Amino acid sequence: MFKIVSKQKLAPKEFDFWVEAPRIAAHAKAGQFVVLRVDDNGERIPLTIADYDKDKGLIRLIFQVVGKTTAAMSTLSAGDCLRDISGPLGTPSEIENYGTVMMVGGGVGIAALYPIIKALKGAGNKVVTILGGRTSSLVIMKDECRKYSDELIVTTDDGSEGMRGVVTEAMKMVVERGDKVDRCWCIGPSIMMKFGTKAAKELGLPIWVSLNPLMVDGTGMCGCCRVTVDGKIFFACVDGPEFDGHKVNWDEFMSRLRQYKDEEKISMEKFEA
Ligand code: FES
Repeated sequence: MFKIVSKQKLAPKEFDFWVEAPRIAAHAKAGQFVVLRVDDNGERIPLTIADYDKDKGLIRLIFQVVGKTTAAMSTLSAGDCLRDISGPLGTPSEIENYGTVMMVGGGVGIAALYPIIKALKGAGNKVVTILGGRTSSLVIMKDECRKYSDELIVTTDDGSEGMRGVVTEAMKMVVERGDKVDRCWCIGPSIMMKFGTKAAKELGLPIWVSLNPLMVDGTGMCGCCRVTVDGKIFFACVDGPEFDGHKVNWDEFMSRLRQYKDEEKISMEKFEA
């Protein structure tokens, strides 16, 4: 059992847990994730390790309520326990001093971007971070990302904070004003990563994305998380979750994400009944 030591609500459907998991915290690196079950009968879901404290033996899990399991998880409080957590899983981010990095995030993907921002800043990069959302209150972790960024640009669809518009417009603005960007990361909803990749292509930038397919074991055995990259099949849980965005087959990836929508809806309706 893994005890939740704190719980915070970051946005209407986004929650932030610090959880006791000393062995995972001891080995965690930026870009990795865990697979957890909320209770004995629960499904296994992957969540990015948003942060970790090796000294206190804690990991931070930030999640959005998107279905039955995350809805059940959101009802837990500090002092409650998660049934089991496996990790750290996945290949860590490639952290080097690239020069200038552009870090683009949206939705709960910002939680996955944050540890990479921290690690890249620690490696000596100039970090330009762009965070976007429909409205100001949905753009999470701004202060934390700002702490490790040389510049933080916020975009909102409704203009309630920062630039009115979407993250791809801010990406173009940074390049057009003359910044030489050496590498980008873009993590967020699949549609944002697809269009972030398209913008990076037009701007001639290398871009890394973090794919979040359905997962079961998280160790390369079930094949549930397969994705096509550069015409070849990879398992996101062991070969990723980060891939070269320019090589991802986005249409296939997004269609596989929708594969169990009907079953997910039924499961959520039963949970709410
Ligand atoms: Fe089973 Fe990746 S989750 S192979």
